[in-house]
Amino acid sequence: MVLGFARIAGISGAMAAMQGLGLVAEAGVYTGPPKPPGSAGRGKKVVVLGAGIAGLVSAWELRKAGFDVTVLEARHRPGGRVWTVRGGDVMTHDHLPAQRVGFDAGHFFNAGAARIPACHHGVHDYCREFGVPLEVQVNVNADARYVSANVRNGLPLEDRQVRHDVRGGVSELLAKAINKGALDEELTALDRERLLDFLTQYGALGEGYAYTGSDRLGYEVEPTVHGAPFSIRKPIPLTELIQDPNWAFQLTFGDQLYQQTAMLHPVGGMDAIPYAFAGRLKSEIKYGVQVTHMKRTETGVRVLYSQKDGLAGTVDADYAVCALPFSVLKSVKCDFSAPVQAAVNNMVFDASCKVAWQAPRFWETEDRIYGGISNVDSRCNMAWYPSYGFDMKEGVLVGCYNFTGQAEPFAAQSLKAQFEESRASVDRIHPGKGRLLARPVAVNWAHVPHSMGAWATESPDTDHNTPEIRAVLEGDGPIAFAGQHLSPLGAWMEAAIRSAHHAIAGIYARASTA
Ligand code: PHE
Repeated sequence: MVLGFARIAGISGAMAAMQGLGLVAEAGVYTGPPKPPGSAGRGKKVVVLGAGIAGLVSAWELRKAGFDVTVLEARHRPGGRVWTVRGGDVMTHDHLPAQRVGFDAGHFFNAGAARIPACHHGVHDYCREFGVPLEVQVNVNADARYVSANVRNGLPLEDRQVRHDVRGGVSELLAKAINKGALDEELTALDRERLLDFLTQYGALGEGYAYTGSDRLGYEVEPTVHGAPFSIRKPIPLTELIQDPNWAFQLTFGDQLYQQTAMLHPVGGMDAIPYAFAGRLKSEIKYGVQVTHMKRTETGVRVLYSQKDGLAGTVDADYAVCALPFSVLKSVKCDFSAPVQAAVNNMVFDASCKVAWQAPRFWETEDRIYGGISNVDSRCNMAWYPSYGFDMKEGVLVGCYNFTGQAEPFAAQSLKAQFEESRASVDRIHPGKGRLLARPVAVNWAHVPHSMGAWATESPDTDHNTPEIRAVLEGDGPIAFAGQHLSPLGAWMEAAIRSAHHAIAGIYARASTA
């Protein structure tokens, strides 16, 4: 937990004050945003840099606490990487021609954030607070496909087949090992019996603990009426299913803590969340202003920004919450302390690309796939189906979502080449259907102005508990920092929210001790 870190080492200044005021949350217990002490905000001004989720949460909570808030946002919309694109929107990159999105009305593409786990309490609390309706985002679907050149020559296989044949095959081998006495040292006789019973059900084993398939796989010939013949699909041997190096990852993707069912998303597009904040912060947000400098002053902080047509402006404030990704902040001229500047300069941001298409819903009409994700061994990785508009005529299909090592070479191509690579990849999952894909749009996050990256290295395994990051979380004089990149929660809106709560607590502490 980010908020738990103050107890680790070397706390001082604002962090100590936060603790004194009870503003540092207990690790592991989410109790909502920090409570402002008394009249913390009265007569105090805060400038918030960036109207992504971290900036919006900061502005919203600080305004509630009585601060005079100004948010500076370079784009003409809120949300940052929470970006839903619709027909008529223009997508720009720093290395490609602009794209005008050609979707029909009612269709949309969540170019950035696209799913919310049930366990991300902060996101859900804000959706509840603002009445943002959510619906299920089908993350894993037994009808989705697995495609690998290494397995049956790229024949598209149903998720249920791969999943249950792997489980059946592994269960059979384990049962055999038990019966050969290979686990006699590990297990008592009674537990060996129990495990054999368990595996029989778990792996759908038959006579002699052999796995010979089950109706979990679906039918080759479907049942109709009594007496008419039907047959269950034949199993694929485990030794064939382990030939693709990514299938173990893909088969367990939906077991990752933050990818587990139920996953959700706002009805009508992920941007319902940033717009819910922004609609309530109307006069506080200045759009189309790009921060160029941030310096400390005797009484606080001064931020300079540029606007279109060479105009420039200044905001003076007592405090700042800097909610720009470090990929962008590193180009802003600041007088940060050496460790803070080092953290800003050194943080690595990942690349990621998506390609979306409008198309007739062949995945539903032909393949009975309603939401979820098919996996393919291409650089486009997947077909991600819409979890809304089921059985309507057309829908938006994400025909590429890739990361780091794949994303940069992918993004180095022309738009046309990106589209054709995605089309070919979808065509391997749905043979003959690639030609139905139309109105493509590609996002290459490492090249999206004002983002310049998809997310900072994303997982809790990455050790960001360095002196430089501790200095950032402590804050630099009147400046507190927020953003996804400051939380071990990783590449999620929840990370932005939790880090914003930490920054807010820091501002409350500063205001209370001023
Ligand atoms: N949250 C993003 C997603 O779900 C990025 C991410 C991918 C984060 C995989 C963790 C694991 O696509």
